Amino acid sequence: MRIAVAGGTGRIGALVVERLLARGDEVVLLTRSEGVDLVTGEGLDERMPGVEALIDVTNPPISDIASAERTFTAITENLIAAEMKAGVRHHVALSIAALRHVKGNPHYYGKRAQEKAVRAGAMPYTIVPATQFHDFPAMIAGWQVIDGVAHVPPLLVQPIAPADVADVLVDVVAGEPQGMHRDVAGPRTEDAVDMARRTRAARGEHGPLLATWRGAALGLEFAGEVLLPAADALIAPTTFEEWLAAEAV
Ligand SMILES: NC(=O)c1ccc[n+]([C@@H]2O[C@H](COP(=O)([O-])OP(=O)(O)OC[C@H]3O[C@@H](n4cnc5c(N)ncnc54)[C@H](OP(=O)(O)O)[C@@H]3O)[C@@H](O)[C@H]2O)c1
Repeated sequence: MRIAVAGGTGRIGALVVERLLARGDEVVLLTRSEGVDLVTGEGLDERMPGVEALIDVTNPPISDIASAERTFTAITENLIAAEMKAGVRHHVALSIAALRHVKGNPHYYGKRAQEKAVRAGAMPYTIVPATQFHDFPAMIAGWQVIDGVAHVPPLLVQPIAPADVADVLVDVVAGEPQGMHRDVAGPRTEDAVDMARRTRAARGEHGPLLATWRGAALGLEFAGEVLLPAADALIAPTTFEEWLAAEAV
């Protein structure tokens, strides 16, 4: 099958592309580095002839709630318009589990706008909501470093291996459009501060790390069990320990 991957050079995108190629699919990359700006639509239509399905794993730069909503909406509307012209049959979007429970964070506003645009569009779709990735806590430890101390909010998460997310996306895109897919999550709940410490240690990064909500990039709206997946979630196999041993470095 000829499948377009919007954001196919990113963290999840590269894993998706690897799997599609291994399965024998033909891949069309839609990224700025490949000459396609999905916010403006520049370069998009030329890439679409023959595309049968599309996976959107973009993560555009945003600065605030308004820019997040504008950017994710523009990308989705441009993709859907190009898909309609090209006769694509299935639009798959990667989203975030528990999205509707978290207010206040610009990225989450952007992702809600993305979901809204997908639902409002004319393309048959599947939205796949995944929990935080196993490398997410170490990533947020790099967002707020004050006087050499990384500030990490004590999130309760049920994280998933990026490779497991990619497996689900390539399965889903080959099937029929499902509308809203059930949450996709890893097998265990984890403490994000512990995950960040252990990931940094595995990478040889031994700087101080403070568990705090104060000044943290993700505020108190992320506290409690708000990020945990729904009870009927599809549970992916790879634990944080297994990912840490195999892939963290
Ligand atoms: N991290 C998590 O824990 C988590 C959990 C659940 C869901 N997600 C979702 O996963 C998605 C992918 O995240 P990621 O970490 O894999 O992203 P990433 O590594 O930052 O990659 C982003 C991709 O988007 C492309 N892109 C950005 N702006 C673009 C534009 N204007 N036009 C075309 N392409 C553009 C980038 O390529 P260029 O720079 O070349 O354009 C790149 O290929 C996000 O939407 C996020 O919400 C993440």
